[in-house]
Amino acid sequence: MAEALCQNWADNVAPILYSKCVSCHRPEGIAPFSLLTFTDAYNYRNSISNAVSSKQMPPWPPDDNYVHFTGARTLTAAQISTIVNWVNNGAPSGNLANAPPPPPPVTNTLGTPDTTLRMPDYTSTASTNDIYQCFVLPLRLNTGKYVSAVEVVPGNTNIVHHVLVYQDTTANHAAQALDNASPGPGYTSFGGIGVNSAVLLDAWVPGTSVKKLPVVFGKRIYPNSDIVIQVHYPAGSAGRLDSTKVRLYYNNNSLARDVRIEPILYHFAPVLINGPLTIPANTIRTFEERFTLPVLYQATVLTVAPHMHLIGESIKSYANKPNGDTIRFIDIPHWDFHWQGQYYFQKPVIVDGGSTLKAVATYNNTSSNPHNPNNPPQAVSLGESTRDEMMLVYFAFTQYQPGDENIIIDSSLLITPVSNPPPIIKKLKIFPNPADMYLQFQNPDPHKKTTLVVWDMAGHKIYEEDLIHRSFISLPTRRWAAGMYRVYLHTKEVIYTGELIIQHR
Ligand code: HEC
Repeated sequence: MAEALCQNWADNVAPILYSKCVSCHRPEGIAPFSLLTFTDAYNYRNSISNAVSSKQMPPWPPDDNYVHFTGARTLTAAQISTIVNWVNNGAPSGNLANAPPPPPPVTNTLGTPDTTLRMPDYTSTASTNDIYQCFVLPLRLNTGKYVSAVEVVPGNTNIVHHVLVYQDTTANHAAQALDNASPGPGYTSFGGIGVNSAVLLDAWVPGTSVKKLPVVFGKRIYPNSDIVIQVHYPAGSAGRLDSTKVRLYYNNNSLARDVRIEPILYHFAPVLINGPLTIPANTIRTFEERFTLPVLYQATVLTVAPHMHLIGESIKSYANKPNGDTIRFIDIPHWDFHWQGQYYFQKPVIVDGGSTLKAVATYNNTSSNPHNPNNPPQAVSLGESTRDEMMLVYFAFTQYQPGDENIIIDSSLLITPVSNPPPIIKKLKIFPNPADMYLQFQNPDPHKKTTLVVWDMAGHKIYEEDLIHRSFISLPTRRWAAGMYRVYLHTKEVIYTGELIIQHR
């Protein structure tokens, strides 16, 4: 029969919906309807066909051809035509027994959290306007730590639009003071959390899967700090209850390297080169930001997250290396305020010192922009409220170390090696230390092929040697300036590293 030849739900369509749609389209998900069963898919078949062929669904604003990020949700052309053909042929079920089992809800794939923090029960008051409510989750560790993942578990997925996780490092717990001064649970603050030295730890939007950073990296949790979450409740959620949780996964690798999340490209001069960020009514304006890395700072970039508000129309970010080459970060040709994210590169992006990071963003403040909050359009300028605008590009980054380019940031949520397993890091014992004219110390792995590399603190490689079957390592320290150095011994599986101080008498 003809039906056997054409696409059916059980054999062809369910696998696509299960891998690309039901993380949101399930009963407890953020999407307005479930797509778990044949009947669900059949009932929504026409709008499914429209949504996938117009690329409105699944939501994935970055251009996949510019940069293919970890966990990209885009459908292939073949998957789109499978769905469209299925609908055009009457959306047959096929043999339901052949359908794959529906995937379980996305749950905790990261193991047991070290700490779970929960905000108090809160009833949304967002009736006609969106609300950005901040909640303080006291943590106050005695000593600093690193986290490899910050997982947000929304209490009520139907009303939690997005969550920003900050750390309040003020000595007097300024966020807690704001909360105490405001009636009811939490306090309202748009943009940041209203505290000066807030450090961004992570961001959650619907459909995100949490990733652990590779073991060599961590985000620093400062002693005595509080976690503060800013939760965005959309208009119309008034009267509904939420209690969102944050799970922290510590990284106990004592040699973890500090990853910071910062808006390196931001909307003030001198970074914004054609500011101020003001978009008169009925105009379309393009702005550009530039920031040049110090020559001696080579960066390892793990994620990128652009941020604009409602009249933002497109944003693109990249870097120009000193030699003129381009490093791509992200291109969002159709900005959608409701689908923002932090995007993980598949491998860390190495940005040479002296490179210029750039962002170019276009704002459409005409009535042709369906997201324009003002009708007729009104002048929009820089500010914190949804109706104001912003132009930020956040990067998660750390200082480059050799081998970073081999780390794979995999979509399986954990960091799994592909060809080069991420090496284990061990401490290298260097003796005597401080050293003077001559230094000889024991090779911890004398039977392996080892590469010895020494970097100075300004990021220059000053020594490199391949060692084969060498029990003792000698370094020509006599020729090196006094100061601090970092020594690496790489075998295939292990990196030994230690600090070396040179003092000449
Ligand atoms: C990351 C979460 C997410 C994923 C993944 C997702 N959707 Fe959606 N979908 C939504 C939300 C939320 C809405 C409600 C409208 C909106 O906010 O854009 C929606 C709306 C829709 C609609 C209604 C569109 C309309 O006409 O308004 C269809 C149809 C749809 N999705 C189909 C799909 C299909 C098919 C897939 C997979 C190929 C998919 N979605 C993947 C979250 C998601």
